[in-house]
Amino acid sequence: MRLQGRVAAITGGALGIGRETARLFAAEGAVVALGDIQADGVETVARAISAGGGRASAMAVDVGDAAQVNAFVERIVAEFGRLDIMVANAGIAHSAPFLDHPEAQWQRVLRVNLTGVFLCCQAAARQMVKQGDGGRIISVASINAFRGVENLVGYNAAKAGVVELTKTMAVELAAHGITANAIAPAQIDTRLTRTLPEEARQRRVDRIPLGRFGEPEDVARAALFLASDDARYITGHTLAVDGGYLAGGLWSRPDRPAPPSL
Ligand SMILES: NC(=O)c1ccc[n+]([C@@H]2O[C@H](COP(=O)([O-])OP(=O)(O)OC[C@H]3O[C@@H](n4cnc5c(N)ncnc54)[C@H](O)[C@@H]3O)[C@@H](O)[C@H]2O)c1
Repeated sequence: MRLQGRVAAITGGALGIGRETARLFAAEGAVVALGDIQADGVETVARAISAGGGRASAMAVDVGDAAQVNAFVERIVAEFGRLDIMVANAGIAHSAPFLDHPEAQWQRVLRVNLTGVFLCCQAAARQMVKQGDGGRIISVASINAFRGVENLVGYNAAKAGVVELTKTMAVELAAHGITANAIAPAQIDTRLTRTLPEEARQRRVDRIPLGRFGEPEDVARAALFLASDDARYITGHTLAVDGGYLAGGLWSRPDRPAPPSL
């Protein structure tokens, strides 16, 4: 059990990557505190983990609201006595061409995907500093932090911000024994990507050398590594969990010809 007795907060725990991370952390002995804007969704996940013999609790939280985030962390401490790991995972996307991207959607995505990560990590780090024995911060960015993926300007900018936020946290929190790392998934099979038309899905798979979308468990396993003692000397790093996407060019599969426009 790699996380025996640790208390882990996971945002966006109702679905996808957050839900899988919660299941895996609980199976590895962690007490998991799930936060999500979907109150029913996190309740269901927490109940399932408890029914399987794990320890879990759920709370409705909007990660873009500082008061709600502080209340989330305060409740975790009241319930479990401490907080050892924060997985700032909640995220949303809005797809629109740059020229037509509505400012309201830009603000909405930045609020959740960047300010939300800042607020959750800050509240968690303040608690960890108070405890005085270190901690782990893991934020979920995206390979879009490194590539100008079309029609996602707000999302991409927020994720690039998460990478830099993570580096700054790593530098400032090192003196307290707290590590801060990010994960950059490529295409993972969750609600966020399931609505893509088949043709768009295939186009994305063509860019992944391992030739498939990732599973939420692929990301959860990376989060487990970063939360575990195996990663004790790693901080400020962004770990791509992308089937080789960033390692290759846009058309990295040798069995598929580049389109004429390239
Ligand atoms: N799925 C992918 O291909 C992919 C790729 C790269 C990065 N990511 C990132 O991984 C993270 C998880 O994504 P996912 O694919 O599991 O998506 P998902 O839509 O399946 O789950 C996201 C969760 O976040 C919650 N959430 C949304 N807004 C919130 C808010 N304001 N406060 C609290 N919770 C909120 C949702 O209710 C949901 O449970 C996101 O940060 C996303 O950007 C996903």
